[in-house]
Amino acid sequence: MKNSRGKDIMKQYLQTPVFKAISQVADSIERETYVVGGFVRDLILKRQTTDIDIVVVGSGIEMARAVAKKLGGVKVSVFKNFGTAMFKYRGMEIEFVGARKESYHRNSRKPVVEDGTLEDDQNRRDFTINALALSLNEKSFGQLIDPFMGVKDIEAGIIRTPRDPVVTFSDDPLRMLRAIRFATQLGFRIEEKTFEGIVSQKERLEIISKERITEELNKMLMAPRPSMGFKLLEKTGLLPLILPELQALKGVEKINGIGHKDNFYHTLEVLDQLAERSDDLWLRWSALLHDIAKPRTKRFDPKVGWTFHSHNYVGMKMVPKIFQRLRLPQNEKMKFVQKMVELHMRPIVLSEEGVTDSAIRRLLFDAGDDIDSLMTLCEADITSKNEVKVRKFLRNFKIVRQKLKEIEEKDRIRNFQPPISGEEIMETFGLPPCKIVGEIKSAIKEAILEGTIHNDYEEARTFMLKKGKEMGLKG
Ligand code: CTP
Repeated sequence: MKNSRGKDIMKQYLQTPVFKAISQVADSIERETYVVGGFVRDLILKRQTTDIDIVVVGSGIEMARAVAKKLGGVKVSVFKNFGTAMFKYRGMEIEFVGARKESYHRNSRKPVVEDGTLEDDQNRRDFTINALALSLNEKSFGQLIDPFMGVKDIEAGIIRTPRDPVVTFSDDPLRMLRAIRFATQLGFRIEEKTFEGIVSQKERLEIISKERITEELNKMLMAPRPSMGFKLLEKTGLLPLILPELQALKGVEKINGIGHKDNFYHTLEVLDQLAERSDDLWLRWSALLHDIAKPRTKRFDPKVGWTFHSHNYVGMKMVPKIFQRLRLPQNEKMKFVQKMVELHMRPIVLSEEGVTDSAIRRLLFDAGDDIDSLMTLCEADITSKNEVKVRKFLRNFKIVRQKLKEIEEKDRIRNFQPPISGEEIMETFGLPPCKIVGEIKSAIKEAILEGTIHNDYEEARTFMLKKGKEMGLKG
């Protein structure tokens, strides 16, 4: 891209008050000022972005204060220790920093920072596509400074480090994950030497906090085709260091010439198919983990071949440990993922074995409000190459969905509250809190799920009285 095109791109932003204000302040206090990094990259890629990084050859804090004043009393947050300042303006977050030179120590990704030139600042950046700068000073407004041919790499779809990749990744190992994440988000290819750099520095990942790693994983998961990220993690050798359970899914074992499918690639196919259907991060995590216990539950039975009995149940139990290790939330989000992993085979079994009303009621009872998410996951879980089979499954799922709707309308099972409370049972039969109360309560629940009675107070009360009588109680 020629400078003139950079100018064209900038033209549309020339009119925005924030860039005008920065430009005027930059000239009035005579500081070279640039918009840099991700903002410039995304501008060229026409991606929406609200984060603007401004580099000043001088003090970023002084500049931020002056621009905020010009814009009319915008509140500035100053981070003295980092020499940065930021403010929010009309939905944008604008961060100001002085141009700097960095050097790294082996045991930390926190660099020693010195003041520097724009060139120093561009030299310290992670990828060529992130090392672009656009001048904001009046006389060179919109001029693109692209020392590493980043625009060419954007156009060719290449992730490449500006310097020796070994140095870039060793300085800040988080960049290995950033490389894979950008490749996944943008559909770019990692250049060969850069790729080899990751392979050679992978062990350095140990100095990165789990929170940072997970942040990158979440971004990969939210990409249009998340499989790309996990394949790259696997190929570079990073995956066993982050999610060994997922690595363990890879490979096909054969006994008596009988193999099973490669559960790593199957999982990634499910994940991509799910990503086409849902933007829910936690449902995407569920897809990634749905078969996570297959290696642990794998058995070979000469009569039936490979089995993975209870892998859904064992998988559900594995989720908390994985979430804890990755510093993912230990709350209802995790419980949702556990529920999806546990129930992920239910609809398919249902569609294969016949859709009885009571089986549908039980599924609705167990999945509750998450029934739609579960159905979406199950549809994504069909990865057969046989189109006839796929069509048959999807047709069956349609029947299951239809039945779910009918039963839900009729029986309101989704947010099932037993129509008779424990107190009412105790009062009716003059019982203290005891086991019998629980037995009667679950008998009522079973009767509703089995369809013996409707989910209705009067029917449940009659049933309770009858049950009590059978148990020799006086009501
Ligand atoms: N950067 C870097 N090394 C890092 C993190 C950031 O060199 N480990 C530089 C890159 O030039 C990057 C800029 O700092 O473009 C801003 O970083 P950040 O806001 O984290 O990333 P973006 O590139 O803006 O992309 P995203 O918002 O998608 O993370």
